[in-house]
Amino acid sequence: MANYEDIFKKVVSHAKEYGYVFQSSEIYDGLAAAYDYGPNGVELKNNIKNYWWKSMVNMHENIVGLDSSIFMHPTTWKASGHIDAFNDPLVDNKDSKKRYRADVLIEDHIAKIEAKIDKDCVKAAKRFGDAFNREEFVTTNGRILDRQKQIDAINEKMNTSLSSGDLEGVKALIEELDIKCPVSGTNNWTDVRQFNLMFKTQMGATADGASDLYLRPETAQGIFVNFLNVQKTARMKIPFGIAQIGKAFRNEIVARQFIFRMREFEQMEMQFFVRPGEEMKWYDYWKEFRMKWHNSLAMGEENYRFHDHENLAHYANAAADIEFKFPFGFKELEGIHSRTDFDLKAHQEHSGKKLQYFDPEIGESYVPYVVETSIGLDRMFLTVLSHSFREEQLENGESRVVLKIPALLAPLKAAILPLTKKDGMPEKAREIMKSLQVDFNCQYEEKDSIGKRYRRQDAIGTPYCITVDHQTLENNTVTLRDRDTMIQERVSVEKLHSIIAEKVNIAKYLA
Ligand code: GAP
Repeated sequence: MANYEDIFKKVVSHAKEYGYVFQSSEIYDGLAAAYDYGPNGVELKNNIKNYWWKSMVNMHENIVGLDSSIFMHPTTWKASGHIDAFNDPLVDNKDSKKRYRADVLIEDHIAKIEAKIDKDCVKAAKRFGDAFNREEFVTTNGRILDRQKQIDAINEKMNTSLSSGDLEGVKALIEELDIKCPVSGTNNWTDVRQFNLMFKTQMGATADGASDLYLRPETAQGIFVNFLNVQKTARMKIPFGIAQIGKAFRNEIVARQFIFRMREFEQMEMQFFVRPGEEMKWYDYWKEFRMKWHNSLAMGEENYRFHDHENLAHYANAAADIEFKFPFGFKELEGIHSRTDFDLKAHQEHSGKKLQYFDPEIGESYVPYVVETSIGLDRMFLTVLSHSFREEQLENGESRVVLKIPALLAPLKAAILPLTKKDGMPEKAREIMKSLQVDFNCQYEEKDSIGKRYRRQDAIGTPYCITVDHQTLENNTVTLRDRDTMIQERVSVEKLHSIIAEKVNIAKYLA
């Protein structure tokens, strides 16, 4: 088994064991691609939301929030193009009866070629030692250049077929590449068909078609239809943004990789309304701003990269993903899209209501252009969890599992641990807990040996353990243990609040 699969499996089981993520409806054997967040999971999720909201809304005078409903008038989805164009190309293997996304089958094939390039690089690095220069190697080595040529040709064929809706071309490419079903091992494929990803439901008791509703596949449309309500009531001037965090639903053909691709998930989106013609300036601005936000969490700049789209969605004139290096490779974490005036114009046409802005600076009315940033909250959660998970060998021969979650996002900031359950230590520990818990999420724990309690807090990802012992009762000092360095120091109880506050200081992260 490949090492990354091993690690990923461990992350998934760790997430369950320590109350981060559970399979939905587990007692009924689960529901595919739906997950529940446990006590630590919900804290981490809230902290991610809060960090995003702080940076995007509270720190921008010209961005305000919204919480729109999941159910929307069905014409919304006609106007947005989701009824006609929110499709994935699917293909079935006739032998295994397994269903796949045709484009993902091709992308997986490309990933295999990329893995070969990586292998070549690793071998060359060993051979050349310190003199190895990867950049130079991949741009001059004949075998790698051939492989890259292959990748470019496949991408070109796939993008041309997908953007022109040529499904026969997609199937021909799968056959040309001799892609086999991972389950049956055969290349006995059906034709490629389009599959709409929206979940349909009904409102009220009537059976006529007018009451058909869809669960929203993106939160963005709630922002578009409220554009004028928000602009007028919050007295916003262009350029300005509207941000929202909320659930979205997609009937994904193949939902896999834990919470990476779910059928019910959460998005954090911001639509930024700009003057027509200025969208590319803002597109570049938000690409850079969002990358900076990711890097502020110090999870390794080398783990992020941009992927500019060639195959654009029906509403976009430019689009890029921020990809993160998950245990299963670089994959999309966030999208930044220049959506033109497509959505507002379409809602204007379908509703018959003007969605225009009078720009006092140029004395003109226009339909604004939109640049959006859209990140999946669950994917961000997986980013943090998978990056933080470490198995460490300690100097004393023991090992530990630790979640090195950025302190700002950690579910618990400190655990307060009386050394024993007697001599007034529990009472003192609870007094300390009381003084900290208003500002920081803390846990009081007195069960098990102190070593076991440290290990448990490491596994949860708690930045600090505060141990109350005999000395505490004498001179009001405690042992403060750092999760990452495991260094223990004696500090006075009065200093605890400011030490933790410094560690989770949001201003420092956002600086
Ligand atoms: N409003 C634009 C939009 O929805 P998208 O690229 O389809 O664009 C944005 O989705 C983000 O939502 C993605 O970058 C990803 O993080 C997240 N996302 C999309 N589908 C998802 C799924 N099935 N499960 C979890 N997250 C998903």
